Amino acid sequence: MRLKDKVAIITGAANGIGFTAAETFAKEGAKVAMADFNVEQGEKGAQELRKKGYEVTFFPVNVAQRSSVDEMVEKVRKTYGNISILINNAGITKDAMLSKLTAEDFQAVVDVNLTGVFHCTQAVLPSMLENGKGRIINTSSVSGVYGNIGQTNYAATKAGVVGMTKTWAKELGRKGINVNAVAPGFIETGMTAKVPERILDQMKQMVPLARLGKPEDIANAYLFLASDESNYVNGTVLHVDGGIMM
Ligand code: NAI
Repeated sequence: MRLKDKVAIITGAANGIGFTAAETFAKEGAKVAMADFNVEQGEKGAQELRKKGYEVTFFPVNVAQRSSVDEMVEKVRKTYGNISILINNAGITKDAMLSKLTAEDFQAVVDVNLTGVFHCTQAVLPSMLENGKGRIINTSSVSGVYGNIGQTNYAATKAGVVGMTKTWAKELGRKGINVNAVAPGFIETGMTAKVPERILDQMKQMVPLARLGKPEDIANAYLFLASDESNYVNGTVLHVDGGIMM
């Protein structure tokens, strides 16, 4: 029970890594607010976890909209109390080569992956300051650290997440709030299901561990950064990518 009675908001928890993280955190005793844009899938996921006896509730949110984020955080506070952990996991891709990328698709990815992280973090801050402690975990990507063909928008946002992580780690450390990021490699979720099989095979060959990652590989990294075991870890980017980039 490494997160006993902690209140955790996980964005993008209806699917993929976020859903697995919700289950991982709930198993460790956290009260989990599963926040997502996809209401149908989110409700279904929360129900599935509640049936297993876990303390989870679904909260609809569009992280790109400040009013929606504020409303979600307020509802979580009313339901579970002050927020101890925020996992900024929601993210989207709209891939295209630079020559074909539209300004709309550039902006759409910025709105969710970058501005969304800013909105959610600012919205939970009063809770964490009141508690005198907190954990913020952002989701970067191997693409944000090393770049990736066809991902101008996505790589820019995931690099931006690293910048915000380090800035907040410096600003908030004295207030008892640790801020870190996880940079996943290629993980088997709906997001990578869109990538052609041929490219995924090439990726696997490039990974020293010779496989793609699983959602639980990332959920366990989130868990480490949310638990007391990482008390002295702040401002780091934990690469969970099978060693694809070193
Ligand atoms: P996914 O596509 O399976 O799940 C993303 C979730 O975010 C979905 O449930 C979706 O509804 C939600 N979401 C999207 N826009 C939202 C919005 N505006 N407001 C609230 N929720 C919204 O993706 P996956 O693979 O689980 O990714 C999770 C995180 O990990 C993302 O930040 C992604 O960029 C990152 N990541 C994933 C990698 C992968 O290979 N799957 C690699 C590197 C990073």
